Amino acid sequence: MRILVVGSGGREHALTWKLIDSPQVSKIFVAPGNAGTASIAENVDVSATDLQGLVSLALQKRIDLVVVGPEVPLAMGLVDAMHDSGVPAFGPTQAAARLEYSKAFAHEIMDKCGVPAAASRVFTTSAAALDYLAGRQLPLVVKADGLAAGKGAIIVTSVKEAEKALKDILERRVFGEAGDRVVIEDFLEGWEVSLLAFTDGTRVAPMVPSCDYKRALDNDEGPNTGGMGCYSPPAFFDDNMAGRATSLAIMPVVHAMADAGWEYRGVIYAGLMVDEDRIRVLEFNARFGDPETQIVLPRLQSDLAGTLLSCVNGCLDPATIQWRPGCSVGVVIASGGYPGDYTIGYPITGLDRIDPKVAAFHAGTRLEEDGRIVTDGGRVMSLVATGDTMAEARERVYENITRISFSDMMYRTDIALREVA
Ligand code: AMP
Ligand code: GLY
Repeated sequence: MRILVVGSGGREHALTWKLIDSPQVSKIFVAPGNAGTASIAENVDVSATDLQGLVSLALQKRIDLVVVGPEVPLAMGLVDAMHDSGVPAFGPTQAAARLEYSKAFAHEIMDKCGVPAAASRVFTTSAAALDYLAGRQLPLVVKADGLAAGKGAIIVTSVKEAEKALKDILERRVFGEAGDRVVIEDFLEGWEVSLLAFTDGTRVAPMVPSCDYKRALDNDEGPNTGGMGCYSPPAFFDDNMAGRATSLAIMPVVHAMADAGWEYRGVIYAGLMVDEDRIRVLEFNARFGDPETQIVLPRLQSDLAGTLLSCVNGCLDPATIQWRPGCSVGVVIASGGYPGDYTIGYPITGLDRIDPKVAAFHAGTRLEEDGRIVTDGGRVMSLVATGDTMAEARERVYENITRISFSDMMYRTDIALREVA
């Protein structure tokens, strides 16, 4: 099988790393990829949002399966474009991906099939939103309806903060047309879990659950980011809870999408808030998570390529998917200043000293002509270790981080700490 992976983050490096393992896979191209994917596959310099360029590439390279990483090309209709050209592509169609790129739509679907979520309302003007807000208890969450790279949810604790958030989104347009509408949600308490599942439109196979740390700094301080670290599995979310969440939140949505004519194939990612044994959905994503993928795939024992293809072909057999017992911990190493302003182009040293049992998934890295690897983004890479226990995985990952260095390097020191403390 010849595969084209679309994207350039740690998630795409992890997907490529796992797909290479498959006896069915003969060649992998990554567009555009990063220095990590270049070391195990062939990068091609086509942007993840250049739909025509990607279709031409897939045809020219005789690709058997396209695997789409990020949400933006899904929302632009990359899977539809590939299918129109006869190229099998893993991921939801543009119509199905709406589950991620419109939070208002996701709430409509959830309401329709009784999936538990925060109470919510949709607004297009600040005045109407503020009226509604006056009758609700604070804090509340003000969200841009569309895609905002994980930064579109603003928790407000006063009317003044709400006014500012609404102004930023609806008037100043800080998220562009993603802010044509806002969704206001009640604030939910609890622990967050990411539950991702493979689906072929009918059948659903959940992956092992994981916990992502979204805030930039230790103790969940600082601004929201794309994700600063992750571990699997959370002790507070056992197999029984995962089974309940799958039948409560994921299956009904997959079936509702099919009934409405937007059959959903690919990965469906439920961001859950868990409070004791109460499970509620915070959001759906239409793709593999980043950094969840880097932490979850090292626990996947069975073949990934076959599973992805079976989702595309509508013949997923959940019984063929096996997970390794044990734990995994991943820590994102970022450029100082992320998610705000940061400097790139710093040489990264020590990569050759990492324990071979620890995976280094690159994200914002670039391979220079002289062979040096330099920083090239906010999230630079993640180190991921597995172990029989969380403590072992955690110790291994943090010990290896000390071997890496670059200017302004920053990472959280408390990933998975609550599981071992
Ligand atoms: P979202 O973009 O919807 O995933 O939101 C980003 C982050 O904001 C989530 O991972 C949560 O940490 C937080 N968040 C979103 N919605 C809520 C909510 N209704 N209650 C509490 N926290 C939330
Ligand atoms: N880790 C959060 C996301 O992938 O959206």
